[in-house]
Amino acid sequence: MNSDQAPSGAQAAGVPVSQKAWSGRFSEPVDERVKRFTASVFFDKRLAVFDIEGSLAHAAMLAAVGVLGESDLADIRRGMEQIRAEVENGTFEWSVDLEDVHLNIERRLTELVGDAGKRLHTGRSRNDQVATDIRLFLRDAIDRIVALLGDLRRALVDLADAHADVIMPGFTHLQVAQPVTFGHHMMAYYEMATRDTERLLDCRKRVNRLPLGAAALAGTSYPIDRAHVARALGFDGVCENSLDAVSDRDFAIEFTSGAALVMTHLSRLSEELILWMSPRFGFIELPDRFCTGSSIMPQKKNPDVPELVRGKTGRVNGHLVALLTLMKAQPLAYNKDNQEDKEPLFDTVDTLVDTLAIYAEMLRGVRVDAARMREAAAEGFATATDLADYLVKRGMPFREAHEAVARAVREAAARGVDLSGLSLETIRTFVPDAGPEVFEVLTLDGSTASRAHRGGTAPSQVRQAVERARRELAGNA
Ligand code: ARG
Repeated sequence: MNSDQAPSGAQAAGVPVSQKAWSGRFSEPVDERVKRFTASVFFDKRLAVFDIEGSLAHAAMLAAVGVLGESDLADIRRGMEQIRAEVENGTFEWSVDLEDVHLNIERRLTELVGDAGKRLHTGRSRNDQVATDIRLFLRDAIDRIVALLGDLRRALVDLADAHADVIMPGFTHLQVAQPVTFGHHMMAYYEMATRDTERLLDCRKRVNRLPLGAAALAGTSYPIDRAHVARALGFDGVCENSLDAVSDRDFAIEFTSGAALVMTHLSRLSEELILWMSPRFGFIELPDRFCTGSSIMPQKKNPDVPELVRGKTGRVNGHLVALLTLMKAQPLAYNKDNQEDKEPLFDTVDTLVDTLAIYAEMLRGVRVDAARMREAAAEGFATATDLADYLVKRGMPFREAHEAVARAVREAAARGVDLSGLSLETIRTFVPDAGPEVFEVLTLDGSTASRAHRGGTAPSQVRQAVERARRELAGNA
């Protein structure tokens, strides 16, 4: 069986009941449908390389404490190298009769090296074995994802840097609120992606603990050396309680929650790219290679990539709920329910890796229409707050200033002009002692430049934020 599909009933004959790893006490073969229902090899064969790694570390430890002979260890190493090669070149024959990745590999090992293969499982259970495999898989996935997030963060910083003083409307309630710089807007997403990275790295600390040694649930009577195995596999330490080690999957839930946040942030950015790219906004262009056309409407250029990212976010959020629900009613210790952790987890990792790999490159191709952005910012009375602040600085209480400016906005709207389009005389009917310098605060550039504190939208601040980010990225690299 080499495909992801369950094999047909014709293959049922496979392994006789007496040869199954756990069939000693069974008097009849497992029902064919039950066999397929309970098997996980269709999807957990993906853990093969980690399973081999874990087994090699376990065997080396058994030999070091004298439970396994040196020649057995050598046989196991030789057999595992061959199995690794078979898995990698696709010639390994996976069998549903052998249930899962662990039993498939163990059976092949025994075929290849005889008794040594049968000794490998000493002091171990599939329960601590699978928990170890998943942690190794997830640790590797986190490292890849963090690297991809680094690339995304770099792309955001580059965009911010290139457009530090491009002015666009900032929105609240999707209504023009105050002018902001495009660089500032991009750096907001940089902050999100940075927290996402921190979250995953923090989760990694709890992923990176060794379950092996917990055996089925209670530990083992062999004189095992768990620290030895932990070191060999690059774990920071061991899981301190055997019941907990084999049963909880909180680390996978935590990861998926971090992944859901990554997707949620990308979904928000995608929503903006989609809006900005629509002709009504016309703020940006996405490169053609990231868009598709319509089979019926020749004029269309659709932002499929951001739309799919927005859509795939639902899928990852769903996996988070699936894993939480999987865990919630399980009594200690291991239950077969946990076999259901893999597909959501694998799909979460794949979705994230695919999304991030394409996203950074798409961002690098964003073309910004600075004139359209400025035009839009100039249309929505975006500097009304600046006028109110001008009045406050001249001694008027803020609430009164708010009221006066609101009347000025109504007047400007009635005349079909922006605030800066009103004459000084008209402005004076609302703000009696306004001087000609009032026009300074009404300009978009004056407005953004004045927000020059740390975290503000001023181009000078964006440049500093870009510099801080570049330092951070250099440190993390
Ligand atoms: N395929 C199983 C899983 O993914 C491996 C552990 C099975 N343990 C057991 N006692 N049936 O969880």
